[in-house]
Parts: sequence; C-alpha cells; structure tokens
Amino acid sequence: MTRDEIMALVRTVPDFPDAGILFRDITTLLAHPQGFSACIAQMAQAVSPRTTAIAGIEARGFILGAALAAHLHLGFIPLRKAGKLPVPVIGADYTLEYGQARIEIDPTLLTAGEHVLLVDDLIATGGTAIAAAGLLRAAGAVCEAALFVIDLPDLGGMDRLAEQGVAGKALLE
Ligand code: PRP
Ligand code: ADE
Repeated sequence: MTRDEIMALVRTVPDFPDAGILFRDITTLLAHPQGFSACIAQMAQAVSPRTTAIAGIEARGFILGAALAAHLHLGFIPLRKAGKLPVPVIGADYTLEYGQARIEIDPTLLTAGEHVLLVDDLIATGGTAIAAAGLLRAAGAVCEAALFVIDLPDLGGMDRLAEQGVAGKALLE
C-alpha cells in the first residue's frame, strides 16, 4: 500500500472538538486491515537500529506505539494522561492545538541512557511531543527521535520539536 493510499484512509472532520479545527481521525485507518498493518510496516522502516524502546502517548499513540513495539520486538513505555498510573510518577503539563493536558510516566520503566523513540499519531503544535520528550529525558532516557503518522506543518510542531533536539518524522503530511 502506498503512502497516498494510507493517507486516503484518514478521515478529516471539520469543527471537532472546537470550531475551526480540522480533526484528522485515524480510526478509519485503524479499522482497515491492510491499512493498519501497512502503516505499522512503513513506520518500522523509519526506526533506527539504536532504538531500545518505544514510548507512546495516550491515547492514540498507544495504539500505534504498542503495535510498532510488538512488530519490532521492543518494549513499550506508556506516557499516560494524569492520574492513571498506580505508582510514583513524574509529570508535565502542556498546551496542544485545542486545549491543555498533563502526561505522566513511571520513571522506573526506563534504564538510564537507553534510546527511546517517541510515537504518536499526529503532531500539530508540538506541545504534546515536547512535553513527552522532556519527561523521557527527565526519567534518564535519550530521546532524539519521534515518529508520527501525520504532521500538520502549518502548526509548526515539527520545527519546535527539532529545536529541542528531537528529530521528528511523519509518514504523511
Ligand atoms: C492529539 C494527538 C497528539 C496531540 C497533538 O491527542 O494524538 O497527542 O493531540 O497535538 P499538539 O501537537 O498540538 O500537542 P489528544 O490530546 O487529542 O488525545 P487523545 O490521543 O486521547 O485523543
Ligand atoms: N491533535 C491536535 N490537533 C489535531 C488535529 N487537527 N486532528 C487530530 N488530532 C489533533
């Protein structure tokens, strides 16, 4: 399946969750058997052999990150939304295209110096990914790369992420 064919499976919904937002909905891609597996296979080709673990951001980053981790026989580190982890956490508040949120991580899941690839479905302003990379680094990991299915380049997130020393790639723009 080509990237254009994968892109065609992403649904665009206007005015969700707020007026003026063009929401890129990956559920139609996930529900497509060839589309989902082709997407994971394409993402896998962009993963450096130095990568020792995959971190995914709740919720949509869990679906893609966990599938990619299993495909590559790597462990999966969940970056959870606030208040969900049953152990001591470190957390970060951040702003995204349509609001504010907080993510948290259990730092004991990471080994000092390991190379963690950050995965999410989409980068818009970059607020979420920058907070996530900061948490991975605060937990002792090296986070130099991030992988997304979709980039919304007009919102500048990929450039902001690069300013933080994280090289982002997306399958689709
Ligand atoms: C979406 C998306 C990214 C984030 C990108 O998550 O999955 O995590 O927004 O936006 P940004 O680049 O402007 O930060 P959302 O917070 O909507 O959560 P969800 O995965 O639970 O739907
Ligand atoms: N997260 C932030 N902006 C988004 C958008 N336009 N579509 C889907 N998820 C998003």
